[in-house]
Amino acid sequence: MVAADGSGARVFRAANRIANLPPYLFAEADRRIAAKRAAGFDVVSLGIGDPDLPTPDYIVGELKRTAEIPANHRYPDYYGLPELRKAVASWYQKRFGVELHPDNEVVPLIGSKEGIFNIALAYIDPGDVALVPDPGYPVYSIGTMLAGGTAHYMPLLEENDFLPDLDAIPASVLEKARVLWINYPNNPTSAIAPMEFFEKVIAFANQHNLLVCHDNAYSDVCYDGYVAPSFLQLPGAKEVGVEFHSLSKTYNMTGWRIGMMVGNGSAVSALGRVKTNVDSGIFQAVQYAGITALTGDQSWLPDRNLIYQRRRDYVLSVLREIGIHAPTPRASLYIWARVPKQYTSLEFSLKLLDELAVWVTPGVGFGPSGEGWFRISVTTPDDRLDEAMQRLKSLK
Ligand SMILES: Cc1ncc(COP(=O)(O)O)c(C=O)c1O
Repeated sequence: MVAADGSGARVFRAANRIANLPPYLFAEADRRIAAKRAAGFDVVSLGIGDPDLPTPDYIVGELKRTAEIPANHRYPDYYGLPELRKAVASWYQKRFGVELHPDNEVVPLIGSKEGIFNIALAYIDPGDVALVPDPGYPVYSIGTMLAGGTAHYMPLLEENDFLPDLDAIPASVLEKARVLWINYPNNPTSAIAPMEFFEKVIAFANQHNLLVCHDNAYSDVCYDGYVAPSFLQLPGAKEVGVEFHSLSKTYNMTGWRIGMMVGNGSAVSALGRVKTNVDSGIFQAVQYAGITALTGDQSWLPDRNLIYQRRRDYVLSVLREIGIHAPTPRASLYIWARVPKQYTSLEFSLKLLDELAVWVTPGVGFGPSGEGWFRISVTTPDDRLDEAMQRLKSLK
């Protein structure tokens, strides 16, 4: 077949593994936003969870310094600098009281997304199932599917405080299940989990021989005095699980691509085996900057979180003024809000885009149980957020 654009370029048949992926809702949204902008509208996007505040100077300074050193221009170590693994272990000790062996229980990642995808290659064979939250960060299910497995959705409902009902998973699914994904503080619902839930997860994983993958990307974006725990704080957690973490949201470093998976030694080693075959690690200067982030001054984090908290309160006050229900988040970068009854989540997002030039993420983009909800991110600068809120107030 030849491309329809008249270039004469051949179009090759894509592998079934990508041809069978569900349509990517956000690609269509991007197209609509671009079209609206091209038509001259000043679109305010509240869609992405990408900190607008810069990475602090002392971290950028360490990157500049270490980027000048020729040894750092070469291929990095597969398993990351030993100093980085040590810095991760000591951060876990200080922040959560969790003991990790830097050589066997820590693997640095090129952003946590990379590891969240690659762990599926380590544990999912065709026919295997991964239990994934719905709504949830899409990579849990897409990684599973690209590895040839099937994602079983666990609905996160408001009446259950957005925690999955593990007892509702059918026995036939559990027989094939290898991995259980959880994520608290949660994207997109912003929910937090009590320790009793994590205890239940550990017992359940032991009972059904599941690897627990806890995604803790938002542990350090908390409000109202809440301090998010690590799953690994619980006795027995390391026996059944790992935790994915990232410098992205904690230190305003999304673009740098640096994260880690920690915990169960056999899973760390399995992921390491996949990674040595598919990537060549993190640019060493970024690793040094990461060490500085983890071991340096942490005193600015509460003030940064207060900025998000103030934005959160502002958005919630406007939503309440216009009659939209939204629980008050105690962590994460998001407000998860109810779509007015007469619309689907996609219809409502497109209505806001068409009528107000404001983009919010339709909940259905995170899974079928996201229907009826939309997500607002507080990572938009104050003046743009204010502009979006003024427009929302005029919603008919
Ligand atoms: C829940 C969750 N996990 C993981 C990630 C990936 O973060 P990164 O790859 O930047 O570490 C994100 C990014 O938005 C996320 O929302």
